[in-house]
Amino acid sequence: MIKILFVCLGNICRSPTAEGVLRHKLGQNGIRDGYLENIFIDSAGTGAYHIGEIPDKRSRQTAKKYGVNLDEIRARQLTRQDFTDFDYILAMDMDNIRNMKAICPPDQHHKIKLFMEYAEDCPGITEVPDPYTGGIEGFDRVFDFIDRGNNGFLKYLFTHYEL
Ligand code: 4NP
Repeated sequence: MIKILFVCLGNICRSPTAEGVLRHKLGQNGIRDGYLENIFIDSAGTGAYHIGEIPDKRSRQTAKKYGVNLDEIRARQLTRQDFTDFDYILAMDMDNIRNMKAICPPDQHHKIKLFMEYAEDCPGITEVPDPYTGGIEGFDRVFDFIDRGNNGFLKYLFTHYEL
Protein backbone atom coordinates (compact mmCIF):
# COMPACT_ATOMS: atom_id res chain seq x y z
CA MET A 1 0.00 0.00 0.00
CA ILE A 2 1.15 3.55 -0.77
CA LYS A 3 0.43 5.97 2.05
CA ILE A 4 0.31 9.70 1.32
CA LEU A 5 0.03 12.46 3.91
CA PHE A 6 -0.57 16.12 3.03
CA VAL A 7 0.60 18.60 5.65
CA CYS A 8 -0.10 22.29 6.33
CA LEU A 9 -0.34 24.39 9.48
CA GLY A 10 -3.96 24.16 10.61
CA ASN A 11 -5.23 21.14 8.60
CA ILE A 12 -8.41 23.08 7.81
CA CYS A 13 -7.55 24.83 4.50
CA ARG A 14 -4.72 23.58 2.28
CA SER A 15 -3.95 19.99 3.30
CA PRO A 16 -7.60 18.82 3.53
CA THR A 17 -8.17 20.39 0.11
CA ALA A 18 -5.17 18.46 -1.26
CA GLU A 19 -6.48 15.26 0.35
CA GLY A 20 -9.96 15.76 -1.15
CA VAL A 21 -8.67 16.73 -4.60
CA LEU A 22 -6.36 13.70 -4.88
CA ARG A 23 -9.18 11.41 -3.69
CA HIS A 24 -11.48 12.97 -6.30
CA LYS A 25 -8.95 12.55 -9.13
CA LEU A 26 -8.28 8.92 -8.17
CA GLY A 27 -12.04 8.33 -8.09
CA GLN A 28 -12.29 9.70 -11.63
CA ASN A 29 -9.79 6.98 -12.59
CA GLY A 30 -11.84 4.29 -10.83
CA ILE A 31 -9.45 4.07 -7.86
CA ARG A 32 -10.58 4.23 -4.25
CA ASP A 33 -8.38 5.00 -1.27
CA GLY A 34 -8.70 3.55 2.21
CA TYR A 35 -7.29 1.04 4.69
CA LEU A 36 -8.40 -1.88 2.51
CA GLU A 37 -7.23 -0.38 -0.80
CA ASN A 38 -3.83 -0.03 -2.53
CA ILE A 39 -3.59 3.62 -1.64
CA PHE A 40 -4.28 5.55 1.55
CA ILE A 41 -4.56 9.35 1.67
CA ASP A 42 -4.69 11.54 4.77
CA SER A 43 -3.83 15.06 5.91
CA ALA A 44 -2.57 16.65 9.11
CA GLY A 45 -1.52 20.02 10.54
CA THR A 46 1.70 20.89 12.31
CA GLY A 47 -0.37 23.10 14.69
CA ALA A 48 -2.95 22.01 17.25
CA TYR A 49 -5.35 24.96 16.88
CA HIS A 50 -8.15 23.22 14.99
CA ILE A 51 -8.03 19.55 16.07
CA GLY A 52 -11.35 17.81 15.38
CA GLU A 53 -12.76 20.62 13.20
CA ILE A 54 -14.20 20.25 9.72
CA PRO A 55 -12.34 22.14 6.97
CA ASP A 56 -12.75 25.93 6.79
CA LYS A 57 -16.04 26.95 5.20
CA ARG A 58 -14.21 28.88 2.46
CA SER A 59 -12.18 25.77 1.54
CA ARG A 60 -15.31 23.62 1.52
CA GLN A 61 -17.21 26.08 -0.66
CA THR A 62 -14.33 26.49 -3.11
CA ALA A 63 -13.80 22.73 -3.41
CA LYS A 64 -17.52 22.18 -3.89
CA LYS A 65 -17.46 24.49 -6.95
CA TYR A 66 -15.15 21.94 -8.57
CA GLY A 67 -17.12 18.90 -7.40
CA VAL A 68 -14.81 18.04 -4.49
CA ASN A 69 -16.41 17.25 -1.14
CA LEU A 70 -14.36 17.92 2.03
CA ASP A 71 -17.18 17.41 4.55
CA GLU A 72 -15.93 14.09 5.97
CA ILE A 73 -12.44 15.35 6.78
CA ARG A 74 -11.55 16.23 10.40
CA ALA A 75 -8.44 18.14 11.44
CA ARG A 76 -5.72 16.33 13.33
CA GLN A 77 -2.20 17.19 14.38
CA LEU A 78 0.86 15.66 12.75
CA THR A 79 2.63 13.12 14.98
CA ARG A 80 6.15 11.69 15.04
CA GLN A 81 4.61 8.29 14.24
CA ASP A 82 3.24 9.68 10.93
CA PHE A 83 6.77 9.83 9.54
CA THR A 84 7.12 6.08 10.00
CA ASP A 85 3.58 5.24 8.88
CA PHE A 86 3.45 7.24 5.61
CA ASP A 87 5.54 6.95 2.42
CA TYR A 88 5.04 10.47 1.06
CA ILE A 89 4.71 13.41 3.44
CA LEU A 90 3.96 16.46 1.32
CA ALA A 91 4.26 19.96 2.76
CA MET A 92 2.40 23.00 1.48
CA ASP A 93 5.14 25.52 2.35
CA MET A 94 8.65 25.90 3.77
CA ASP A 95 7.37 26.80 7.26
CA ASN A 96 5.61 23.42 7.31
CA ILE A 97 8.87 21.74 6.30
CA ARG A 98 10.73 23.41 9.16
CA ASN A 99 8.05 22.36 11.66
CA MET A 100 8.03 18.81 10.26
CA LYS A 101 11.80 18.43 10.41
CA ALA A 102 11.73 19.44 14.08
CA ILE A 103 9.80 16.27 15.00
CA CYS A 104 10.79 13.87 12.18
CA PRO A 105 12.85 10.79 13.21
CA PRO A 106 16.34 11.12 11.67
CA ASP A 107 15.92 8.14 9.31
CA GLN A 108 12.62 9.41 7.81
CA HIS A 109 13.64 12.85 6.48
CA HIS A 110 13.72 11.58 2.89
CA LYS A 111 9.91 11.28 2.92
CA ILE A 112 9.40 15.04 3.38
CA LYS A 113 8.84 16.97 0.14
CA LEU A 114 7.30 20.22 -1.00
CA PHE A 115 4.02 19.23 -2.65
CA MET A 116 4.43 21.76 -5.49
CA GLU A 117 7.60 19.98 -6.65
CA TYR A 118 5.22 17.59 -8.40
CA ALA A 119 3.36 20.35 -10.32
CA GLU A 120 4.36 20.42 -13.98
CA ASP A 121 2.73 23.61 -15.18
CA CYS A 122 3.56 26.02 -12.34
CA PRO A 123 7.08 27.23 -13.08
CA GLY A 124 8.50 29.17 -10.15
CA ILE A 125 5.70 28.21 -7.77
CA THR A 126 7.19 26.19 -4.94
CA GLU A 127 4.65 26.76 -2.15
CA VAL A 128 0.89 26.78 -1.63
CA PRO A 129 0.40 30.05 0.31
CA ASP A 130 -1.52 30.13 3.60
CA PRO A 131 -4.97 31.57 2.71
CA TYR A 132 -6.40 31.67 6.24
CA THR A 133 -6.26 35.39 7.00
CA GLY A 134 -6.86 36.60 3.44
CA GLY A 135 -9.97 36.95 1.28
CA ILE A 136 -11.98 34.36 -0.59
CA GLU A 137 -9.99 34.90 -3.80
CA GLY A 138 -6.97 33.40 -2.03
CA PHE A 139 -8.89 30.17 -1.71
CA ASP A 140 -9.47 29.97 -5.47
CA ARG A 141 -5.76 30.49 -6.01
CA VAL A 142 -4.93 27.80 -3.45
CA PHE A 143 -7.37 25.40 -5.11
CA ASP A 144 -5.79 26.04 -8.51
CA PHE A 145 -2.27 25.36 -7.18
CA ILE A 146 -3.43 22.21 -5.41
CA ASP A 147 -5.23 21.00 -8.53
CA ARG A 148 -2.09 21.48 -10.64
CA GLY A 149 0.13 19.90 -7.98
CA ASN A 150 -2.11 16.87 -7.81
CA ASN A 151 -2.24 16.51 -11.61
CA GLY A 152 1.54 16.13 -11.49
CA PHE A 153 1.49 13.93 -8.41
CA LEU A 154 -1.13 11.64 -9.97
CA LYS A 155 1.07 11.30 -13.06
CA TYR A 156 3.99 10.46 -10.78
CA LEU A 157 1.94 7.78 -9.02
CA PHE A 158 0.76 6.22 -12.30
CA THR A 159 4.36 6.19 -13.59
CA HIS A 160 5.84 4.59 -10.47
CA TYR A 161 3.11 2.28 -9.22
CA GLU A 162 0.48 -0.11 -10.50
CA LEU A 163 -2.68 1.24 -8.98
P1 4NP B 1 -4.02 25.81 6.68
O1 4NP B 1 -4.51 27.31 7.04
O2 4NP B 1 -2.65 25.65 7.29
O3 4NP B 1 -4.00 25.78 5.21
O4 4NP B 1 -5.05 24.88 7.31
C1 4NP B 1 -4.49 27.80 8.34
C2 4NP B 1 -5.55 27.55 9.18
C3 4NP B 1 -5.56 28.07 10.46
C4 4NP B 1 -4.48 28.83 10.89
C5 4NP B 1 -3.41 29.08 10.05
C6 4NP B 1 -3.41 28.57 8.77
N1 4NP B 1 -4.50 29.38 12.20
O5 4NP B 1 -3.55 30.09 12.54
O6 4NP B 1 -5.45 29.15 12.97
